[in-house]
Amino acid sequence: MKGLILSGGKGTRLRPLTYTSSKQLIPVANKPILFYGIEKLIASGVNEIGIVAGDSIDEIRSTVAAAKWGKARIKFIRQPEPLGIAHAVLCAAKFLGRSPFILYLGDNLLNHDLKGFIREFEEKKLDGKILLTKVEDPRLFGVVEFKKNRIVRLVEKPKDPPSKWALCGVYIFNGRIHDIIRKLKPSKRGEYEITEAIQGLLENGYNLGHSFVDGWWKDTGKLEDLLEANRIILDAENAGDIPRTTKVTASRIEGRTKIGKKCVIRNSVLRGPLVIGDDVKINSAYIGPYSAIANGVTLSHCEVENSIVLEAAEIKDIKKRLTDSLIGKNVSILAVSEKPKNNSFMVGDNSRIVLGE
Ligand code: TTP
Repeated sequence: MKGLILSGGKGTRLRPLTYTSSKQLIPVANKPILFYGIEKLIASGVNEIGIVAGDSIDEIRSTVAAAKWGKARIKFIRQPEPLGIAHAVLCAAKFLGRSPFILYLGDNLLNHDLKGFIREFEEKKLDGKILLTKVEDPRLFGVVEFKKNRIVRLVEKPKDPPSKWALCGVYIFNGRIHDIIRKLKPSKRGEYEITEAIQGLLENGYNLGHSFVDGWWKDTGKLEDLLEANRIILDAENAGDIPRTTKVTASRIEGRTKIGKKCVIRNSVLRGPLVIGDDVKINSAYIGPYSAIANGVTLSHCEVENSIVLEAAEIKDIKKRLTDSLIGKNVSILAVSEKPKNNSFMVGDNSRIVLGE
């Protein structure tokens, strides 16, 4: 069984971060989202993995290559344009050959036994297997229609959904899917839809199996879901010892916290669950539950909670507590003490600023 992880796409819902980087590299609990998928596949016994990526392929390759993946072999495959999930599979045709493969959307996080999922596919000699979960608003997903416990139809983002059962980003196929994908036409939104390819399996009389997610599942494609994923992962983390190279003075550290090397923490309160990277400077600050603070961040005279702060950002002298936020790399949020006390911004396209006035 090969693995194919998709790490391309447009990432419009996470702009402006996705203008400069890939959304799958945004860290959740200080680890790139993509890494959770790679780990999951390896833990399920999949050791030959292809990662499909678009323009940010070099950054993805170097980030993945900098980590250790045991005996797994990882190959990077370029998708010239984000023309859909089925198109990404087409781009990987040479890597996949006619081998069965598990397709995993790189911005998904889930707690489901993929080993069992793969075993069922193999034991029942299926042509395709999909993972389903119940969603509040099925109009945003690929949705299945059941008749007497059998899937009879699949539709992508239906206006009038036939059920609340949506496709999560995990599928297994054998080589037959390629024959169907090659015949697909772009949908109304201009994408080659994997949902239509799976519908093609049904129409050709091939065997399609399904399972329901038995744990949690998160598509981290938008801010609220990313923060929720961060909470779920931090909730499951164990506390770590404070490294010798980190200096803590006149501070209180409560709850489950993981603190990196060479940090300087003074006159502050840190309340877990939270994770702090290396070389972080915290001075007269409160860092509350569900915060993930990346390497090289400076937090001074401010309060942060339920937020993800990326590398080398600095937040200083802000009176109101910062919550529910995703702060990009090298971002500065500062206050002025002298007059005139104007607000002054240099903010990229599609940013969102919510002032608690
Ligand atoms: P989506 O999140 O559905 O699409 P997107 O990445 O373009 O994001 P947005 O809707 O915010 O614009 O994509 C699901 C996953 O599939 C995600 O991990 C990206 C990946 N993907 C590709 O690798 N290639 C593609 O052509 C598309 C559309 C998605």
